[in-house]
Amino acid sequence: MKDVFILAIESSCDETSMAIVKNGVEVVALTILTQMDTHANFGGVVPEIASRMHCENITMVLEETLNKAKMKVKDVDAIAVTYAPGLLGSLLVGVEFAKVLSYVYNKPLIKVNHMIGHIYANKIGDKMTFPNLALVVSGGHTQLIKMTGDYEFELLGETEDDAIGECYDKVARVLGLGYPGGPKIDKLATEGSNTYEFPMPVNDNTYNFSYSGLKSSVINLVNNERQRGNKIREADLACSFQTVAVGELVKKTELAIRNTGIKNVIVAGGVSANKYLRSEIAKLCEKYNAHLDLPDFIYCTDNAAMIGAAAYPLYLKKDFADLDLNASSNSNICW
Ligand code: KG4
Ligand code: ZN
Repeated sequence: MKDVFILAIESSCDETSMAIVKNGVEVVALTILTQMDTHANFGGVVPEIASRMHCENITMVLEETLNKAKMKVKDVDAIAVTYAPGLLGSLLVGVEFAKVLSYVYNKPLIKVNHMIGHIYANKIGDKMTFPNLALVVSGGHTQLIKMTGDYEFELLGETEDDAIGECYDKVARVLGLGYPGGPKIDKLATEGSNTYEFPMPVNDNTYNFSYSGLKSSVINLVNNERQRGNKIREADLACSFQTVAVGELVKKTELAIRNTGIKNVIVAGGVSANKYLRSEIAKLCEKYNAHLDLPDFIYCTDNAAMIGAAAYPLYLKKDFADLDLNASSNSNICW
């Protein structure tokens, strides 16, 4: 079969990214232009600034990606773009840009869900094995999904309130560690021990999660200690918080392995970059003799390569979008 090259575009939050992906598994070129430093000044992503910066940078990101691949737009077989979920203004920049390329170069347009993109980050350079249990953990999502094949998803459970990534970010903020908080807590936790006690989020037999209670306990503890003039042992607090937050993910994944008998686990989304989570999930999989797929670090957080990987099964099915494609901020679009 002829090789298939997909030019993929991702602009759902604060990264302008493009990639050229061959046959859904090989990254020929990838560019990620992050706006993180700008948003860090405000303690989080400012949607209006994000969409303006995408507009300013998107043409440059295309040029750089094509140069790296030594290709032209006419050489690719399709244009793929993230259309949901995310910040509406940011998504729209990518969607409109993709539509223009599709129209001008007469290439099929493929719409990709951002969260499915995170899942397919596991397919880059590898084969995803089915059935599998996908633990999807990002700034907006905490879900446990059973996958029986390409694009065959069954939602087993999800967070009842905050997402785990959001919880990391809020804990980092109260400690004054800055944005994005996840990587900072991850690093700080390695220097501390599990000495603060926090309640386990949901102690039941469902696959659901809850992180707002844990978030409030950490914030309350920090505020109370400060009011009393006590010093907070930040590294210990980061480690204690992380032990509970990740412990919950591991516990629910273990329940799913036992109940379904599925021995393939994948982890997806920004929080999959967390070193403690990676090692705890690896230990769990070892215990059950299960196969574990983790995305390479570069493909954990937002990037267009995962969008190209997720677009490939749709290309094979000729599941193409029309030029009236619109962006959507809806987070539950696919399950
Ligand atoms: O997938 P992502 O880049 O964007 C969304 O689709 O939401 O995930 C971003 C989230 C943020 O909450 C960030 O703090 C978290 O992923 N994150 C981490 C780590 N790296 C990113 N959380 C914990 N440990 C990390 N190393
Ligand atoms: Zn993401």
